[in-house]
Amino acid sequence: MSKKIILSGIQPSGQLSIGNYLGAIKNFVNYQDTYDTYYCIVDLHAITVRQNPVALKENSYALAAWYLAAGLNPEKCSIFIQSHVTEHAEMGWILSTFTQMGELERMTQFKDKANQHKQNINAGLFTYPALMAGDILLYGTDVVPTGHDQKQHIELTRDIAKRFNGIYGDILTVPEPFIPKVAARIKDLQNPLKKMSKSSDGAGTIFLNEPLKSIEKKIKRAVTDNEMNIAYDEKNQAGLANLMGIYAACENKQIEEVLPLFEGKGYGDLKKAVAEKVIEILEPMQNRYNELMNDKAELDNILKKGAEKARAKASPTLIKVKEAVGFIAPS
Ligand code: TYM
Repeated sequence: MSKKIILSGIQPSGQLSIGNYLGAIKNFVNYQDTYDTYYCIVDLHAITVRQNPVALKENSYALAAWYLAAGLNPEKCSIFIQSHVTEHAEMGWILSTFTQMGELERMTQFKDKANQHKQNINAGLFTYPALMAGDILLYGTDVVPTGHDQKQHIELTRDIAKRFNGIYGDILTVPEPFIPKVAARIKDLQNPLKKMSKSSDGAGTIFLNEPLKSIEKKIKRAVTDNEMNIAYDEKNQAGLANLMGIYAACENKQIEEVLPLFEGKGYGDLKKAVAEKVIEILEPMQNRYNELMNDKAELDNILKKGAEKARAKASPTLIKVKEAVGFIAPS
């Protein structure tokens, strides 16, 4: 029986945060043994916000290096750059004609980003979800692992696939989201009502390449509350719930399993435990990351093979889609 297919992607648009790792990359690693897996560095998406070209290149290599440092094995999964597989841009265009303006207007990521970048609300930022649907649907993807913030985009992808199939027959696989129970929404340490984000420069984000001492400091300064009792309450004790979520995710456990460890303890004990866990995970990852970033030729090699494997999977779907809509195949 053929393996089920997983695809996910991350934008090379800044330094990765522990939210990206715990909410997404960690699960990518878990899937690589049992699924046919495709992990993309979505540079076409990244340029919907103006990027410095030198930084974009460096961030794209950095993302490949983090994928590998986190444990993705290029013999098992395809790690590739979106713009290397030109099928993505073509599929995105075709699917944009099956996506309604009203649907795009409802996307919260668009609303947030349009708000953050008022001087550059470009058409690509608006049609972004059609390109993302293209990424997913090109591979016949069964499952899309992401953090919670991408759920709305995956639901739209499902609607687009169903709409297309409704017109042309069963051509596209309708994917399911996989949103982890723990760590799907890691919050900013200074403002636990806000998502921790790689585009933030603040004291509330733990970056994967941050000096370990600085990580420890940020966790110790994380905002909690005045209740002084350890409980899991996302609404009234959001800062505490966030720290517990980070701890549980690092330990591969559920909240209920880690809660008893901290009962009767102080907030300082919890923060110390979280800092230790995060550092235990990030220290070896950072070492591996630094080695990989010093060998760009090896990264190029891995990305080339990844793109070849990805293209072999994506191309037949695009051919079917073009045939379905009535394009003449090149002779
Ligand atoms: P991006 O680059 O913003 O984020 C990458 C992944 O990290 C997750 N994530 C988080 N998870 C938990 N807590 C957080 N604070 C946190 N912040 C980010 C995101 O949910 C995501 O899984 N549109 C996508 C990229 C994309 C994509 C795709 C994803 C393009 N094509 C196809 C899946 C399939 C994005 O902007 O992710």
